[in-house]
Amino acid sequence: MDRITLLDTGRLPPALVQRLQARYHYLALPATERAAWLAEHGPRVQAVVTSAPFGLDATTLAALPALKVISSFGVGLDKLPLAAASARGIAVGYTPDVLNDCVADMGFGLLLDVMRRITHADLFLRRGHWAAGQVLPLSRKVSGAKLGIVGFGRIGQTLARRATGFDMDVRYHARRPVMGVPWLYEPSLLELARWCDALMVIVSGGADTRHLINAEVLDALGPQGFLVNVSRGTVVDEAALIHALTTGRIAGAGLDVFENEPHVPPELIALEQVVLQPHVASATQETRAAMANRVWDNLDAFLATGHLISAAPLPQLA
Ligand code: NAP
Ligand code: 8YV
Repeated sequence: MDRITLLDTGRLPPALVQRLQARYHYLALPATERAAWLAEHGPRVQAVVTSAPFGLDATTLAALPALKVISSFGVGLDKLPLAAASARGIAVGYTPDVLNDCVADMGFGLLLDVMRRITHADLFLRRGHWAAGQVLPLSRKVSGAKLGIVGFGRIGQTLARRATGFDMDVRYHARRPVMGVPWLYEPSLLELARWCDALMVIVSGGADTRHLINAEVLDALGPQGFLVNVSRGTVVDEAALIHALTTGRIAGAGLDVFENEPHVPPELIALEQVVLQPHVASATQETRAAMANRVWDNLDAFLATGHLISAAPLPQLA
């Protein structure tokens, strides 16, 4: 029997690529001369594997007339052509839940780091400032502080449970309240920013949330407030954030994601009150293995039964 032809557009982990190569006729999308390559190979492709930061663009999708299924490594759907997939009856799988713990751990780690100045103090020591008798500015107390969470889905609620262990007062904002949770819903993002000591952003990416965290929200957070973003770089207006940080309109920021990855503005790199991570919130051995297994299982289940283990919500067609 002919093997299914599978196209990788997402730079997946090598161990997963090896597994895929053993089972499928595996092709990787080249970086250059794509049009000619897709004209030759595109018509045979029945499955796509990708990752949340890379996804699948409309031009590539249009060159894959036999495509039946997309299996994405990650939970973010902002780089996936959901409407076109829905229109063409293409199934889309993703990896929700298995990464909740690690992304929440990173969000909380950034919160602790930036409020307690952990990285700043580490650099202070390594650069010899302690030995030279200099004084590090005082940090801020995390336990008992007020945490505003923007986006209260799987990971947002996991973060709230972490915060509860630190006796934090938690409120959240999303488009609608979540039933059956003990935390207070705040319908106004501005009010949440005014109320909290730290704003944790873990909302979905995409056009609807682009620059949700803008200059007005940062001003509401105020000179004593901290911002942590573990969702998508597009959610925060990066120019407004740089302005707020460099003019003292907010106290500090912890960032795992950026507007133009992997490029991080030098203004952010220069700031001591900012902690930066290269989009690694889910990047533990355990979680990445679980994500790889779900990518595999989604494909396997779909090709055997026509059903995915974890199907991404697709827009309903009119
Ligand atoms: P989820 O369960 O779908 O939660 C998304 C939340 O965002 C929901 O509470 C949703 O509530 C809210 N939301 C969506 N649009 C909104 C809007 N316009 N205004 C306000 N709230 C809005 O997703 P999840 O699994 O928690 O993941 C959240 C996001 O984290 C992913 O989409 C991904 O981009 C990001 N992520 C990043 C990393 C990383 O490596 N840094 C790893 C994993 C995930 P309503 O629909 O009720 O508004
Ligand atoms: C990436 C993520 O998938 O799940 C998401 O939405 O952004 C991450 O978990 C991961 O960085 C692999 O590229």
